[in-house]
Amino acid sequence: MPTPLAPERADLPLRVAIVGFGRVGQAVTRRLLAQPRLTTGARPWRVVALADSHGCLLDPGGIDLAGALREKQRCGRLPRPLEEFEDGWSDEPPELLLELARSAPDTAEPGLRWISRALEHGSDVVTSDKSPIARRGRELRRLAARTGAELRCSTTVGGFVPVLPALRDGGGGAEVHRLTAIVNGTCQYVLNRVDSGTPFRVAVEEACERGLAERPPSWDLLGFDSAFKGAILHQWLFDSELAPEAVRREPLDELRLARRARAAGEGRRVAALLEVRPDAVELRLRPVSRGGPWDVTGAENVFCVETRHAGSVWLRGTGAGPAATASGVLADALALPRSRTESRPNAGRAGGWLDSPPGPVERSGGVPA
Ligand SMILES: NC(=O)c1ccc[n+]([C@@H]2O[C@H](COP(=O)([O-])OP(=O)(O)OC[C@H]3O[C@@H](n4cnc5c(N)ncnc54)[C@H](OP(=O)(O)O)[C@@H]3O)[C@@H](O)[C@H]2O)c1
Repeated sequence: MPTPLAPERADLPLRVAIVGFGRVGQAVTRRLLAQPRLTTGARPWRVVALADSHGCLLDPGGIDLAGALREKQRCGRLPRPLEEFEDGWSDEPPELLLELARSAPDTAEPGLRWISRALEHGSDVVTSDKSPIARRGRELRRLAARTGAELRCSTTVGGFVPVLPALRDGGGGAEVHRLTAIVNGTCQYVLNRVDSGTPFRVAVEEACERGLAERPPSWDLLGFDSAFKGAILHQWLFDSELAPEAVRREPLDELRLARRARAAGEGRRVAALLEVRPDAVELRLRPVSRGGPWDVTGAENVFCVETRHAGSVWLRGTGAGPAATASGVLADALALPRSRTESRPNAGRAGGWLDSPPGPVERSGGVPA
C-alpha cells in the first residue's frame, strides 16, 4: 500500500500534467482558472505541463493557464516543441495526468502511450479518451494495480452521468445482468428532429453545425462511437476484453429509420438503444413508447442497469459537451485518494475499476419500452 506523504510534504503542490488541449482540455483549464484553490487533500494543484498535438508548455513553478488559453486561441498551438514534454517526463513525471487527447480509434495512440507511461511511473491518470480504454482498458487497469496508481475514466461513457462510478461502487454485489442505454447525442438529436418532421439530411447537417457531430458524421451515425462505449461498459461489467468491432451495430440512415418508424406504429417512436449483456453488445434502432423513459427529447444520455438482486437502477443526464465532460474529469480527479506518496513502485494495490466483476448470468426480465 502507498505510504502517506511525510507531514512536511503533505501540503506541497500536486504536480499535474494535461495532454490534449482541445474543447475538453480548454474547458478543464477554464475551470482550474475559475477554481484556483482546487486541492487534493491539503495539496493545491499545480499544472506543470500541458500539450496539444504540436507543442507544449512546461513550468515546474506552474503554467500561466490564462496565457496558454490565449496562445492556443491566437496560434492554434502551444509554443514549445512537443519533444520537450516527452523529455520532461524522464526528469520528473507528474503525479496526476489528465489525458484529454482524441486518440486514433484503431491504434488508441497517443493516449495509450501517455496513460501507460504515467501508470508505469505510479502517476494517477484521469482520461476522457475512449480508444485507449476500449482497446486496452483491462491491461491498463492491471498496470495501475501493479504500480499502485489509479486510473479513472468516467467520462468515456455518459459524459457527466456517473454510470461507471455507480457500477464500480454498487454493481458487483447486485450482479448486473443487462444494461440498456442511449449513449450517442448525435443519433439522439437526429432521431428527435426527424420525429418532429425535419428531413433526415437537414437534421444531420444541423447536428454538425451545432458541434454535436464531427464532419463527416459517420462515426456517430454508423454506430462506432456507441460501439466503443459498449466495449467499455462490457469490460467494466464483465471484466472482458471485448473489442469495439465485436459490438453489433445497426447504422442510422434515412431508409432504415423510415422503415423502423413505420413499423413502430401509433404511440411509439424510434430510439437507438445500446444493450450490454454478458454474451453480447448490440446497438439497435428500437420502437419505444412516447412519454416513456426512452422518449428522450433533449441530448441526454439514459442508462437502465438491471441487476439480479436489486432490481433496476436508472441514470440520466448530460452525456457530452466540453463543460459537462470537464466537470466529470474534475470529479474523477477530486475523488482520487487524498494521501499520495512521492514514488509508488509496485505497490500492488487494486486499480479504480471493478475488482470482482459479476459472473455471467442468464437474461431475464425486460426494459420498459
Ligand atoms: N467533447 C465532448 O463532449 C467529449 C465527451 C466525452 C469524451 N470526450 C473525449 O475527450 C477527448 C477530448 O475531446 P475534445 O472534444 O476536447 O477533442 P478535440 O477538441 O478534438 O481535442 C483533442 C485534443 O487532443 C490533442 N491531441 C491530438 N493528438 C495529440 C498528440 N499526439 N499529443 C498531444 N495532444 C494531442 C489535440 O491537439 P490539437 O489541439 O493540436 O489538435 C487536441 O488538443 C476525446 O478523446 C473525446 O472523445 C469528449
